[in-house]
Amino acid sequence: MRKITIAIDGYSSTGKSTVARQLANWLDYVYVDSGAMYRAVTLYAMRNGFISETHIDTDKLINALPNIRVEFRKNKGGKAEMYLNGENVEKAIRSMEVSEYVSPIATIPEVRRKLVRLQHKMGEEKGVVMDGRDIGTVVFPNAELKIFMTATAEERAGRRYRELVARGDSVQYEEVLENVTERDHMDSTRADSPLKKALDAIEIDNSDMNLEDQFHIILQLAKDRIAGRI
Ligand code: DC
Repeated sequence: MRKITIAIDGYSSTGKSTVARQLANWLDYVYVDSGAMYRAVTLYAMRNGFISETHIDTDKLINALPNIRVEFRKNKGGKAEMYLNGENVEKAIRSMEVSEYVSPIATIPEVRRKLVRLQHKMGEEKGVVMDGRDIGTVVFPNAELKIFMTATAEERAGRRYRELVARGDSVQYEEVLENVTERDHMDSTRADSPLKKALDAIEIDNSDMNLEDQFHIILQLAKDRIAGRI
C-alpha cells in the first residue's frame, strides 16, 4: 500500500499529538512530535544560562546550535521519547517553565532551520505523521493529508491543566490559560513560519468531540488519501 505524509498543525493543546500518535500506531507510520524538538532546544538554552526572566541571549544560542543534538528514541513500550545530547528529557521538556520560553525560542530562524532540516530527514521516506505549527505550510507543503486542529482556549487550557496536575505539577488553571493564549499569539504572529492553516488543510474543531470520534474522522481521511480517493 502506498505511504503518504500526514501533517497535523494547530494551536497548543488541541490534542494534535494524541491523534497523531493514534494514527501512526494504526497505520504503522513513524510519529514525530516536532514541538518536542523546540522544547528540547529551549531546555538546553535554560540549562546553559542563555535565558533569564527578561532576556534571551540569542547569539549565544545560535553559536551553540552545532552542540545541540536532539533525537527520538523508542522506549520499551515502543513510544518515541526525546533525547537531548544523549539524555532522556521527555519529562523535563513538558514543564511549565519550558512552555513559558519555548515560543520565543521558536521565533529564532536559525533554530527553525536546524530543526526543519532534521524533520525533512525524518519524513523523507513518507509513512510519517508529524504534528506542529508549520508542518503543512513549511516542512511538508506537499503532504497528501493536512489537518488543522482548533478548540477554544478555555477547553485547551483545561486539558493541559489536568495533564500537568496528573503528573504531579502544582499549577493554577489561570496560569495555564495565560500560557496557552500567549503562545497562540506568539506562534501565529512571528515572522518566520507563523502558525496558519494551509490552504488545502482540513480544519477540525474538537471542542465538543471525543477522542474516539476525532480519531475515526481523521483515520477515514487518511485511508481515502492512501487509496487515492480524494
Ligand atoms: O506542540 P507543542 O506545544 O509542544 O510546541 C511547543 C512550541 O514549539 C510551540 O508553542 C511553538 C513551537 N513549535 C513551532 O514553532 N513549530 C513546530 N512545528 C512545533 C512547535
